Amino acid sequence: MSDGQGRKSELHDSAYLAEYHNLRARACGTSLNAQDDAKIYTSAFKDQLETYSPLDHHGEHLVILDVGTGAGRVLVNLADHAVRENIPLTKVEFLGVDKEPAMIHRAMSAQQQARSMSQVGRIDWLVGEALHLTSSELLENHINKVDLLLFAGGSVSHLISPNEPLGFFAQAAALLRPRSGRFYLSVRNDLTSTQLSPQPTKGSTTGVDVHDQCDFPSKLYDGIVYRQLPIESSVVDGPIKTDRYLLQVVKRTDAGGEDIIEENRIETVLRVFREPELLEWFKEAGLEFVEALHTLYETYYVLKQAD
Ligand SMILES: C[S@@+](CC[C@H](N)C(=O)[O-])C[C@H]1O[C@@H](n2cnc3c(N)ncnc32)[C@H](O)[C@@H]1O
Repeated sequence: MSDGQGRKSELHDSAYLAEYHNLRARACGTSLNAQDDAKIYTSAFKDQLETYSPLDHHGEHLVILDVGTGAGRVLVNLADHAVRENIPLTKVEFLGVDKEPAMIHRAMSAQQQARSMSQVGRIDWLVGEALHLTSSELLENHINKVDLLLFAGGSVSHLISPNEPLGFFAQAAALLRPRSGRFYLSVRNDLTSTQLSPQPTKGSTTGVDVHDQCDFPSKLYDGIVYRQLPIESSVVDGPIKTDRYLLQVVKRTDAGGEDIIEENRIETVLRVFREPELLEWFKEAGLEFVEALHTLYETYYVLKQAD
């Protein structure tokens, strides 16, 4: 039962919240950027497959590393696309990393449900931190071996401490295969400061993201509905945007009533980027900017290891 205050959550830290996040991402994806995002990543994947040479790879797999993989959405999409196009996946390795065990759990069950994923040569899931990729047991052998590195869905905005973006970009640079490896970094356009002043206005309230109440019926738990209440406050302070809203886990009873069985006070804290600062960090981290692809909702920075 709710205590009226709810528990504070960062959104991905319980089984209910993991499913809610997944349902919400899917709903957003269907209505907003899924097509853009799928088009961008499948094209990047195809480019890598077309230029794959067993000789250059010393007989090893073509490695796709999806950092902040969430429920594995992007990797499953890539596998589905390849199977639809009759592209063999036996020489491909998927690696999905997320810091939240609940998300990796969801990704593993998504793998089991997607028949296309059984065609992939090798799949590994890792509970791990974007900032410490190269010191993880699974990835320490992948220095200079990642062909396509993704940080999708604007997840880079979760790196809110001052040195985190640069720290992560340095990890990406170390992992990329020299010359041919590519890093696709997605940044949400609504989290990019286009203002001329160096910092967004302190304490300003933005109208972005304010949504109506929204119900997401669970597909995993009988009679459960996730009820997202409208955003209570949305504040930009320097490069940090904080949104607060309530997420109720509602159980529909046989008698037609509803019980609130969990109430989460959700606080999302996200980084707002300025492009000149991003470009400077890329350089400092040892990445070379190749191009930027613009869609309505996201900008994709395509990067390679600097020579
Ligand atoms: C917006 S979701 C995107 C999920 C997925 N990439 C997609 O596009 O569907 C962000 C994900 O990044 C993960 N994440 C955030 N910060 C992270 C970090 N420092 N290291 C690893 N994963 C992180 C979260 O747990 C969450 O699953």
